[in-house]
Amino acid sequence: MKSDSIHGMWSSRLMFVLAASGSAVGLGNIWRFPYVAGENGGGAFVMVYLACIFLVGIPIMVSEILIGRSARQSPINAMRTAAEASNATSCWQLLGWMGVLAGFMILSFYAVIAGWVLAYIFQLGSGMFTGSSGELAKSAFDGFVGNVWEVLAWFTVFIGITISITARGVSSGLEVAVKYLMPILFFLLVVLVIYAAFTSGHFLEGLQFLFSFDFDKLSWNSVLVAMGQAFFTLSLGMGAIMAYGAYMPKDASIVGTATLIALMDTGVALMSGLVIFPLVFANALESSAGPGLMFITLPLAFGQMAGGQFFGCVFFILVAFAAITSAISLVEPAIAWIVEKLNTTRLIAALLVGGCVWLLGLGSVFSTNIWSDVFIFGEMTFLDTMDYVTNNIILPLGGILIALFAGWILSSKIIDEELVADRWLYPIWQFLTRFIAPIAVSIVFIMALLQD
Ligand code: PHE
Repeated sequence: MKSDSIHGMWSSRLMFVLAASGSAVGLGNIWRFPYVAGENGGGAFVMVYLACIFLVGIPIMVSEILIGRSARQSPINAMRTAAEASNATSCWQLLGWMGVLAGFMILSFYAVIAGWVLAYIFQLGSGMFTGSSGELAKSAFDGFVGNVWEVLAWFTVFIGITISITARGVSSGLEVAVKYLMPILFFLLVVLVIYAAFTSGHFLEGLQFLFSFDFDKLSWNSVLVAMGQAFFTLSLGMGAIMAYGAYMPKDASIVGTATLIALMDTGVALMSGLVIFPLVFANALESSAGPGLMFITLPLAFGQMAGGQFFGCVFFILVAFAAITSAISLVEPAIAWIVEKLNTTRLIAALLVGGCVWLLGLGSVFSTNIWSDVFIFGEMTFLDTMDYVTNNIILPLGGILIALFAGWILSSKIIDEELVADRWLYPIWQFLTRFIAPIAVSIVFIMALLQD
C-alpha cells in the first residue's frame, strides 16, 4: 500500500474530514437544495433525497475514497492503476475522464452562482436591503443578474480565486481557513434557524413543507432530481472525493469518515431549508422560485433583522467560502492529472483548467441576461442545462460505474487492505455497492426516461 502521493498529503484524518466536508458543503446545500426541494414539492422529495444519501451516497463515497487512497494518484490514473491491479481492462480510466469533464461543466455554472454570492456580500453590506419587501428583493435580484457585465466580473473574480488557491496546492492555509470558517458557518445557520423559528411565524409551515410527504405528488423526474442532488451535494460521481482520498492518511477509517461527512452535509442542507421556507411562507413568496430563491429570501430576512446588515454580509462571506472549498475540489482531478501527465507545475495546470472553465462558463453568465431567452432543451437556459445534465445524468452515471467497479471488479486484496479499520461494516458496504446502489440508480434512470 502506498503511503503518500506526489501531490502532498492531508496532515491528519481531521484535515481530510475538513477538506472533504469543505468539498461537500457548498452551494449545493445552501443554494441548490432549498430551491430544488421547492420546485419538486418538498416532503416526498426530501425523503427520497435522504434515502439516496444513506443507501447510495455513503457506499459510493466509501468506494471513491478507497480507490483513490489505494492508488494515490489523480482519478484518471487511479482508475487505471486499480483496474490493472484487479486484472481488468484499463478502459475503466474513461470513468476518470468523464469525471474531469463533469468537473469542468459543474464549475462553469457553479462559479456563476458563486459570483452572485460575492456580489451579494457587498449588496448586503451596503444596507440596501434594510427594511426591504419581498417584491423589492426580487426586483433587486432580477436587476442584478440581468446585468451582464456585473455577473461576468464577479464570475471572473471567483474563477481567479479558485485558480490562485489550487495553484498553491491545497495548502495548510486553506486547511486552517476551513477549520475556522466551517464551524462559524454552522453556528450562523443555527442562529438563522432560530430566527426563522421565532420571528417568521411560519416555522411549522416550513417544517411541514420539508417533512410531510405525499408521494402522489412525486414524479419520476423529481425522484431523478432528488438522486442527482444527493450525488451533487456529497461531491460524488466525478472523482472529487477520489482525488481527495488519494491524500488521506492510510490508517483512518474510511466508512466512519464518509458517514461523518454525509451527516454534516445533510445537517447543513436541512438547516438551510428550515431557514428559507419559513421566510418564503412569511413573505408570500413562491416556494418554486428557482435559482433565485436564496438570493431573495435571505436578504429579505437580514433586511428585517436587527444587525442584519452586518450578519447578512458575514453570512454571504461564509457561503462564498463554502463555495470556494467546493470549487477547488471540482478542479483537483483535472489539475492532479495534468501535473502527473505533463510533469508541469500546479500553476500551469491551474491556469489551463481555469481558462477552459472560464470560456465554458460564459454561456451560464449570459443565461440570465443576453441569452435569457435562448433555450437548449425545453425551457432550460444554458445554465439550467449544464446543471441538469451534470447533476441528473453524469454524476449518477459516474456513481453507478464507480459502484460496479468497486463492488464487482476491484480486487478483494485492495479492499481488505483499505477497509481494515471497518471490518464489520464490510459486508454491508459490499451489499449496498454491489446491488442496492446500481439497481436503485438504474431504476430511477429508466423510470424517468419512460415517464417523459
Ligand atoms: N458538493 C458541492 C456542493 O454541494 C458541489 C460539488 C459537486 C463539489 C461535485 C465537487 C464535486 O456545493
